[in-house]
Amino acid sequence: MDNPYVFITRKVPEETIEPIRQVADVKMWDYEDEPVPREILLEEAAQATALYTMLSDQIDRELLSKAPHLKVVGNLAVGYDNIDVEAATEHGVIICNTPDVLTDTTADLTFALLMATARRLTEAEKYIEKGYWVNWSPLLMAGQDIHHKTIGIVGMGRIGETVAKRATGFEMNIQYHNRSRNEKAEQELGAKYVSFDELVETSDFVVNLTPLTSETEGMFNAEVFNNMKESAIFVNAGRGGAVVEADLVHAIEEKQIAGAGLDVFEQEPVPDNHPFLKFPNVVCLPHIGSASIETRMEMCRLTARNIRAVLQGDKPEAVVNGK
Ligand code: DGY
Repeated sequence: MDNPYVFITRKVPEETIEPIRQVADVKMWDYEDEPVPREILLEEAAQATALYTMLSDQIDRELLSKAPHLKVVGNLAVGYDNIDVEAATEHGVIICNTPDVLTDTTADLTFALLMATARRLTEAEKYIEKGYWVNWSPLLMAGQDIHHKTIGIVGMGRIGETVAKRATGFEMNIQYHNRSRNEKAEQELGAKYVSFDELVETSDFVVNLTPLTSETEGMFNAEVFNNMKESAIFVNAGRGGAVVEADLVHAIEEKQIAGAGLDVFEQEPVPDNHPFLKFPNVVCLPHIGSASIETRMEMCRLTARNIRAVLQGDKPEAVVNGK
C-alpha cells in the first residue's frame, strides 16, 4: 500500500514535523510568510491523505468535495472558522486544532494589548521617534488606569478565564458574558456573570475572545459601541468577524469610546490604508495572540501529533468533530 501523503501549507520548523515524516510522504509549501495559492491547495488536496493548514487557508465544501483521499485536516490554531466543519464531517474528514498549548500566551498578549491601549504605549513610542519629546509636562501621554477598573470579558472559555486570572493581579473587578456560566471562574477568580448588555454598558475594558460563529458574527455593532462608556476601551483578540469594523471606525471618530486594541480584523492582513491605522488611540497588531516562540513550536508539534494519530488510526489529542 502507498504511504499516506501529507501536504503542509506553510513552511514550519522541520524538527516539529518529524512524527509525520516517520509515517507519511510529506510535501511542505516552501514559504514562511506567503500563503499557498488556492489552485495549488486544490491540486494538493486532490492527492492528500492529510492537510496541515493555517488559519488563512479556506477548507470549504468545494475543496472537501475534490479531496477523495482526505482523512484529516490539522489546523495550526485553536480557532477553525476557516474550515467548514459540517462539510468535513459529511465527508468523513477529521478536523484537529491546537487548544490549551496557546492559552497562557494568548492571554498574555490580550492583556498586553489592553495595557498598551490604556497607557498609550505605541502612541508614546511614536511620539519620541518623531522627536516631539522636548519637555516633560503633567499630562504628557496620560492614559487610563487599569488597576481597580472593571474588565468585561465576552467569551469565557480557557483564554477568557486566563485573562481574568491576569486581571486579578491588577485588582480589577471582573465580569463576563458567555453562552454558559463558568462556575470555576466565578468561584476561583470572583468573576461575575452578567448579560451582554450590562457588560457593554458598565465595563471600562470590553474584551472580546469569542470564536467566530453565526452567533458571534457582527455582534459588536453601532448600537453596542454606542452603549459603551465614553471612557471604555474595546479589545479584540478573538476574531475580526465579531466586529462590524465600519461601526467601530465611526465609534472612534465620534469619540463614543476612548480607544481600541485589535489583534484580529475582518480582512487579514489589514490593507495599509485601513482607517484603524490612522487613529492614535487604536493599537493594531498583526494577529499575534499565540506568537511566542515556545508556543508556536508547541502548536506545530501538536498539529503534527494530531495528524500522525489519525493516520495511524489512533485518537488525536485535539479533535473538533467526531469522537
Ligand atoms: C488561534 O489559534 O486561533 C489564534 O487566533 C492564532 O494565533
